[in-house]
Amino acid sequence: MNVLVVGNGGREHALAWKLSQSPEVSKVYVAPGNAGTAVDAENVDISQDDYPALIQFAKEHKIGLTVVGPEAPLVGGLVDAFLAEGLRVFGPTKKAAQMEGSKIFCKEVLNRALVPTARSQAFDNPNDAYAYLRATDQDGYVVKAGGLAAGKGVVVCDTKEEAAEAVRQIAEERAFGAAGDHFLIEERLVGQEASVLAITDGQTIMTLQPAQDHKAAYDGDVGPNTGGMGAYCPASLVDDRKLHWIEEKILLPTVFTLNRMDTKFKGVLYAGLMMTPQGPRVLEYNARFGDPECQPLLFRLKTDLHTVMQATIDERLMSLAPLEWDARPAVCVVMASKGYPGAYEKGFEIFGLDDAAQLPDVKVFHAGTKLDANGVVRTNGGRVLDVVALGDTVADAKRKAYEAVSKIHWEGSWSRSDIADKEIKATSGTTES
Ligand code: AMP
Ligand code: GLY
Repeated sequence: MNVLVVGNGGREHALAWKLSQSPEVSKVYVAPGNAGTAVDAENVDISQDDYPALIQFAKEHKIGLTVVGPEAPLVGGLVDAFLAEGLRVFGPTKKAAQMEGSKIFCKEVLNRALVPTARSQAFDNPNDAYAYLRATDQDGYVVKAGGLAAGKGVVVCDTKEEAAEAVRQIAEERAFGAAGDHFLIEERLVGQEASVLAITDGQTIMTLQPAQDHKAAYDGDVGPNTGGMGAYCPASLVDDRKLHWIEEKILLPTVFTLNRMDTKFKGVLYAGLMMTPQGPRVLEYNARFGDPECQPLLFRLKTDLHTVMQATIDERLMSLAPLEWDARPAVCVVMASKGYPGAYEKGFEIFGLDDAAQLPDVKVFHAGTKLDANGVVRTNGGRVLDVVALGDTVADAKRKAYEAVSKIHWEGSWSRSDIADKEIKATSGTTES
């Protein structure tokens, strides 16, 4: 069976790496891929936005499974285009991907499903929003652009003045373009965040182990928001009892409510959760694997992912055995370009990848990398590498991941130094650095 993975980040490298281990899979292609997927799979020079070329490639290369990694082609309808051609594809349709593509739609589903989430109000007009803000008095506000904004369309505010300014940016200045046509103002929740992802065929869910992302750029969770500077799993913040509660009160009602709205969701439903003193609350849903959460999750997953994805497409997840995991925790440290998440330069040669690859229980997934004409690996993005390690304890996994990070460098390379410290502290009472 030939497999095609669409996308070019660390998540897609991890997907391609994992799928290539299946005895059912003979060849994995990645479109367009990066320097890492060029080694673990074969790159195809087709953009994730070129749906006709992807379809033609899938037909010509007898692709029996296409996996769509990023949100943009899911929300754009790539899965629908493949299905219309009778091709086998893993991921939600355009309609179902609205769970991520439209925060207004997502809230509507959450409210219908009685899933705990922040109270919110939807707007399509800034003046209504200003009037609403004047009439309210609450402890913090969150203003969210309704559409896709590359993870940047959320502004967490202390005061109503700040919230009004965020409304102005989103709805008047159009800082996120059409994503600001509709927007939400919601209550600010307080707590630690966790990512709980489930693979679903629209009827059954297979919940993955809980993970935690590190969204802030710098140590101590300060600085601007990023796509994620590191992750680990499992996250003890979500123990078995809480995970069960999340399945029963959050994930299943969401899947069933979508069905009742004639929107079957097949693929990965990713709940971004805030663990508040009142219990878990949904901050957002994504319609795909999280990046970087996917990398430590798949590094620990023992079950054949190809089998699970095919069963999802055929709606027979119910017939599969539970997922099996490596008992050891995994820590993923993101290495980034100087300047990220602001402006950064690309094209620097990356040194030390071979040394890092020698280390046991370590895998370096590539995110923003590219092979140049001479076969040299160069930086090609803000988040460049995702260094993942397994350890007997989280502290051990962290130590191994940073040992690998220390072998790799390029001009301006940097990473946070405290990935997983919260977990180490929670599970052992001490931190390591
Ligand atoms: P979202 O894209 O909705 O997950 O929002 C991005 C980030 O904004 C989340 O990871 C949280 O850190 C923060 N956030 C979103 N909604 C809220 C909320 N209601 N209260 C507090 N923080 C929030
Ligand atoms: N790691 C956050 C996301 O994938 O949206």
